[in-house]
Amino acid sequence: MNIPFVDLKTQYHALKPEIDQALLRVLESSAFSAGPFVASFEKAFAQAQGVDRCLAVSSGTAALHLVGMALGLKPGDEVIMPSNTFFATAEGVSLTGAKPVFVDCDPLYYNLDPGKLERALTPASKAVFAVHLYGQPAPLGPILDFCQKKGLPLVEDCAQAHLATYQGRPVGSFGVAGCFSFYPGKNLGAYGEGGAVVTGDAGLHAKMAALGNHGSRERYVHQYVGHNYRMDGFQGAILEVKLKYLEAWTQARRRAAGLYRQHLAGVPQVVLPSEAPGARHVYHLFVVRAPRRDELKKYLEERGVGVGIHYPIPCHKQAAYAQGGHARGDLPVCEAYASEILSLPMFAEISEEQIAHVARLIGEFYA
Ligand SMILES: Cc1ncc(COP(=O)(O)O)c(C=O)c1O
Repeated sequence: MNIPFVDLKTQYHALKPEIDQALLRVLESSAFSAGPFVASFEKAFAQAQGVDRCLAVSSGTAALHLVGMALGLKPGDEVIMPSNTFFATAEGVSLTGAKPVFVDCDPLYYNLDPGKLERALTPASKAVFAVHLYGQPAPLGPILDFCQKKGLPLVEDCAQAHLATYQGRPVGSFGVAGCFSFYPGKNLGAYGEGGAVVTGDAGLHAKMAALGNHGSRERYVHQYVGHNYRMDGFQGAILEVKLKYLEAWTQARRRAAGLYRQHLAGVPQVVLPSEAPGARHVYHLFVVRAPRRDELKKYLEERGVGVGIHYPIPCHKQAAYAQGGHARGDLPVCEAYASEILSLPMFAEISEEQIAHVARLIGEFYA
C-alpha cells in the first residue's frame, strides 16, 4: 500500500465543482491581483480566527517580513525566537536587517521554552516571535507574561496552526499579529502560494497593507519603500471555498492523531507527541521521536510510505546563520531532537487502514 505524506489530490476531487467554479469566476471578472475575492476571504478568515482584521498576502514568509517591517525592526535590533522552526520564521526577521536570537525548545512539546527567554534578552531585544510548531500552540501564557514585563511585542507564527486554540482562544489573537501560511500542504492550503497576517490593531493593519502594496495607500503615492506582497485573486477565491471545510478537516486530523496513538501504543520505542494543557493541537504534522530514525525512515520509504523530517537542521545551525553568534550558548534539546524526529503521513483524508498500515510497518521495523 502506497501512502503519501500529504494527499492534495483527494481533497481537490472532493471539492472539484466548487473550486472550478470559483476559478472561473476569477477569470470572468479579471480580478487577478488582490480585489474582491481576496477581500471576501480576508473577512471570512478574520472571523474564523477570532480577530478583527486580516491582510491576505503572497506567502507566510511575506506575512512575517511585513510584520517585522511594520514594527520598525532594523539592523542592530534583536528578535528572540525558537531555533526549532521552519527557516522562514527567522528569514522574516533577517530580511528587516534585525538579528534572530535563537532559544531552545521545550523537551515535551517542542515549542519555544519560555524558561529560556530571559537569557536571550539584551538591551537590543525588540520583539519575541513565537511559533505554534506542528499545529500545537506555544505556551502563550508565560510567553505573554514575559513580553508584557519587558515591554516587547509578541508576534505569532501560526503557519502550521490554523484554528488551533490556547485556553479556548484562537492562536494569532494573542500577539500584536499572527502570521499564517497557505502553502499547498498546510492545513488550509492554497493552489499556489499564499499567506495572511491577522491583527486586532487597526494602525498596524493599515501600515502592513501599505507596506505590502509598494508602501502605498493611494495609487502612485508612496509613503514607504515596501514590497509587492499582494495575494492573487485565484488564491483568495480558492481559500474562501476551502475555509468552509477547515473545521471538519481539523477534526479529521485530530481523529487521525488519536488513531496513530491507538495503533502505535504497542511500539514503546516510538515517543508520541504530547498535547500541552489548554492547547488545541491541530496536527499539521504528526511528529514522533524514534531511535535509529534514519533507518526507520528508509524502511518506511522503501515500502511506499511518505515521511518527513521537520526539521533536520535547527535554525541556529544553518549555514546562513553561521556568522554572528545567533544562539547564546548551546541549544541541546533541539540539537538532540533533530536526529530523532520523524513526521508520519498526516492529512485530513487519511484512513484508519492507512494509519494502521504505517503503525504495523513501524512495529515490524523495531521487531
Ligand atoms: C513555521 C512556518 N513559518 C513560516 C512558513 C513560511 O510560509 P510560506 O512557505 O508560505 O512562505 C512556514 C511554511 O512554509 C512554516 O511552516
